[in-house]
Order: sequence, then C-alpha cells, then structure tokens
Amino acid sequence: MATREILKMGHPTLLEIAKPVEKFNTSELDSIIEDMIDTMKENDGAGLAAPQIGLGMQLVIFGFDSNERYPEADQVPFTVLINPVITPIGDEEEDGWEGCLSVPGLMGVVPRFKKIRYQGKDQHGNEIDREVDGFHARVVQHECDHLIGKLYPMRIRDFSQFGYLDTLTKE
Ligand code: NI
Repeated sequence: MATREILKMGHPTLLEIAKPVEKFNTSELDSIIEDMIDTMKENDGAGLAAPQIGLGMQLVIFGFDSNERYPEADQVPFTVLINPVITPIGDEEEDGWEGCLSVPGLMGVVPRFKKIRYQGKDQHGNEIDREVDGFHARVVQHECDHLIGKLYPMRIRDFSQFGYLDTLTKE
C-alpha cells in the first residue's frame, strides 16, 4: 500500500491543464493507479484526479458503494477513466454539495449538469462510454475539472453555501 501526498488548493500544479495518456497497459500506469486507489481510500474520497498527486496526466478514478462524506449519494461503480470527454445531455443543471481532498475541511454547493455522457478509456485502453445522471454525473464533472485546472470553489455561484464542514448546517 502506497499513499501519496495530496496537493492542496494554492499549489500551482492544480491549476495546470493535464496531458493525454498515450500508453496503456504499462506497469508504470498500473502502479500510479494503485497508489491513487490507496490514497483515495485512505482519505475516504469519492474520487481522485492525477493532478491532485502532482501528475499532469488525464487520469481520474472514482466510485464507492457508500461514502461517509456523501451519506445520501447513490452508489457509483469504481471506474478508472483516462483521456475523458464529457458531453452534457440537455442544459439542465442541479445544485449539490461537494468537497475535495485538495480543499480539506470545506464544502460548497456547486451547480453541475444533471445528465452527461462521458467517454474515455480504462487503464487497458478499453473504451468507456456511459450516460449518467445525479451524483455519478457530479463526481465525473468534479474529477474531470481537475484535468483542466478547475477546483470546485471556482464553480460556486452562491458563496453563502460554502463553508467548513464542522460548522455548516446543510439544507
Ligand atoms: Ni476534487
């Protein structure tokens, strides 16, 4: 088990645009993904993006059966998603609470597309192509934002719904 240090908001690497992964099925990629899984689980995260451990590559992982940080969220299948492309389905948005392992202790209400299609590859180069909604769609949008240098506070519109987890009274 190898956990990596998670970069926190303010670190310049988190603002960079990640590069596409070109080689699949390599031991290097496998060991990065293993470390990301260990790091996500250790911190009880719903997802983790490679830039959060300092790697500027288009690689995110996400998924859980249940999550202490999001007790009401439906289960999301564990997924390794590489070189993702997100296409909103319709323009309907939904507000929901988000946190981020790079922004510890805080949560905020973030508008996201309610329904999306996402495409990409897994670590073996197999195609992933899914249409999802709700929390699954939210997690994917949050994680993929990390690949374009966006952290969820940059998406917040109503800052009266942003604060410390141990202080907030959520609606
Ligand atoms: Ni995050």
